[in-house]
Order: sequence, then C-alpha cells, then structure tokens
Amino acid sequence: MSPLRIILVGLGARAQFWMRVIRENPDCTIVGLIDPSDEARTRALAQWPEAAASADLDLITTVDADFVLLATPPGGRERQMELACKAGIAILAEKPLADSVELAARYVEMAEDAGVPLAVGLNFRFLPVTQETLRLFDETVGAPEFGRFTYERWRDGWRPNFNKYPLTMDQPMLWEQSIHHFDLMRYVYRSEPVSVFGSTFNPSWSMYRDDANVSALIRFANGVEVNYQGLWQSNWQKPGFQWRSECRNGVVVQNDQFGELNYALHADSELTPVTLPPYEQWINDAKSLLAAFVAAMRGTADLPCTGRDHLNSLRMVQACILSSQQGQAINPADLDTNAKREIGHSTHHSALQQRTSQ
Ligand SMILES: NC(=O)c1ccc[n+]([C@@H]2O[C@H](COP(=O)([O-])OP(=O)(O)OC[C@H]3O[C@@H](n4cnc5c(N)ncnc54)[C@H](O)[C@@H]3O)[C@@H](O)[C@H]2O)c1
Repeated sequence: MSPLRIILVGLGARAQFWMRVIRENPDCTIVGLIDPSDEARTRALAQWPEAAASADLDLITTVDADFVLLATPPGGRERQMELACKAGIAILAEKPLADSVELAARYVEMAEDAGVPLAVGLNFRFLPVTQETLRLFDETVGAPEFGRFTYERWRDGWRPNFNKYPLTMDQPMLWEQSIHHFDLMRYVYRSEPVSVFGSTFNPSWSMYRDDANVSALIRFANGVEVNYQGLWQSNWQKPGFQWRSECRNGVVVQNDQFGELNYALHADSELTPVTLPPYEQWINDAKSLLAAFVAAMRGTADLPCTGRDHLNSLRMVQACILSSQQGQAINPADLDTNAKREIGHSTHHSALQQRTSQ
C-alpha cells in the first residue's frame, strides 16, 4: 500500500516534531509544505527536498494528497479549512482547532458538509501515563470521584524556539495549554462538564499581554469534581505538575505531565509507582496519534479525537473565560446551539474508507 500523502501547513516549532514523526512512519510521506515565511520553508525543504513548497495555500488544491496537517496558529485557519474541504482531503489540525468555539463549530460543520474527516491533535491522550490511568481506574483503585490538577510553569514566551503568537493573543494559557488539560479530564473521567467556575489573571511579572494563569472548579456530569490550577506565569523556573484523582478504593497520583504515575489503596502507607514503557516526550505521543489517524484513513479504526468531540473541550475554555468575567459558574453545554450533536466517530468511518480505497 502506498504511503499516505500529507501537505504540512505551518512550518514553525510544532512542525519540526511532525516532520520527524512522519519520517519515522513508513505509512506516511510529505508531498507539500506551506508557510508564508521563506526561512521556515527553506528549513523544512532541507529536510523534505522531494516535497513541493509554497507560500500560497492554493497548493492544497493543486498537489494530490490524502490529508493536510495544520500546524498553524489557531487564529486565522478559515482559508486552510475551506481549501482542504474544497480539495476533499482529510484534516488533522493541531489543537486548539480555533480560537473561538463559534469558529471551531463552523469548521466542524464545514468538514461534515464536505464529507471530510476532521481530527484534532490531542497527543496527550496517547501518552502511556494517560492510558495507564484509565487502567488503574478500571482495575485497581475504582471509579474517580474528585481530583486536583496542578500545572505550574514559568513559560518563557521569548525563548527562540517557542512560538510567539501566544504573547499577544487573548487568554493564551486557556486556549494553548489548558485545552490539553480539559481534554484529558473529559477523556479519563469519561464524562462531560456541567459546571465551570473559573478565574483568569495575569501576575505583575507576566510577559503575556492577556491572562496567563487560570484557576477553576469544574464539575462533571458523573459527579467528578476537579480543582484546577494552570499557570504559564508562576514565578519559579522549575516547573511543577501534579494530577491527583481520588477514587472509590484509593488514589492515583501523576507527578509529571508525561509520566511518574503512582497509586495507593486506602490503607497503603506509601504510593506504589507504576512502570511505564520507555518514552520520548513529544515524539511517542505524536507517533501514536498519527498511527491512530492513519488507521482511520485506512478504514481499520474510527477517527480519533474528532473535531466534533473537541468542541466540548473548547466549550470548557470558553466557559472558564465567561465565568471569570461574570463571577458565576457556567455550564459549557449552554454555550452555543449549533454544535451539540453527539460526538461523531462512526459517521466519518465510511467516508474515510471510501477515500482511502480510491
Ligand atoms: N499538540 C501539542 O502538544 C502542541 C505543541 C506545540 C504547539 N502545538 C500547536 O501547533 C500549532 C502551531 O504552533 P507552533 O508552536 O508551531 O507555532 P509557530 O508560530 O512556531 O509556527 C506556526 C507557523 O505557521 C506559519 N503560518 C502562519 N499563518 C499561516 C498560514 N495562513 N498558512 C501557512 N502557514 C502559516 C507561521 O509562519 C509559522 O511558521 C498551534 O495550534 C499550537 O497550539 C501543539
């Protein structure tokens, strides 16, 4: 079977990881590279000289491809989405799909109307630590009832190898980082949020124009309650992370965003560490995500991380912003009207099979 042909759009920081991940997947190849920056295109072409490169998004409709991988900033993807839908090729878009729920919902509908599969790059779902957490809930400590999620970081937004748009965007922590955390909560607690009471703020030392820190109390439909603190502007260079879930028979404690998983049963005096497979952060998670997307394209699995499912995580972000402005809890499900249909994997399945068997 010939490799799936990818047009990589946006050749900045994140694309560097994708180029390696794609190179190491024999089922994929890059046929197109798009970025308005000459420097970014030159750097990417040095790694993929066989690909067509352009500053112009029209390449999406002129090069034969199986899917576009959008590694562009989340704001301003309208034309990228329109052209992929026009070309009838699948879309794997980096998170967040857009910088507003309304726009993201429009993209989801646009892709569904065009019969184009749309998935979002939620790589943290694919971490061994995430999968093991689910197993612990099922087999060892029982169902989770409440949790505390703490992510503390002084993120140097001026670091040369970091993207720069978060420095000036609205609510950078929520759209860029908390979106992963909220998605993970929905994924491992296997429930949708019914209430978000949030507060966003920016400390005096912040280099970000808008709020880089978030606190929230989140309640899920199955009763799970989470205390969340997400900081891009803590005031210590050393990062901190802890996600502790209190369950029927004990606790699960994750001490690093990529690993360090432990559990304890109620009467245990110490935590028991969980052995995780060897792991290269940012690489293995993206590899597994890509493999899952390829399986869907080949018709052997459902589409992972659908755009429609992602809307529920984006609504949590929006609810947090509104809650902070209004000083009251918000139910994310009340936020918009046109994107509430059930999470759709299987609807994409036959369209994918059709496309990949062509
Ligand atoms: N899943 C993850 O763990 C993860 C990690 C980092 C970044 N990301 C996401 O990846 C995306 C890109 O982030 P980044 O760090 O690479 O940003 P970046 O600013 O480093 O790179 C973005 C690139 O897109 C290009 N670009 C801008 N507008 C474009 C357009 N209309 N058409 C084509 N190219 C365009 C820019 O010139 C730039 O080279 C964001 O959505 C970000 O949230 C995801």
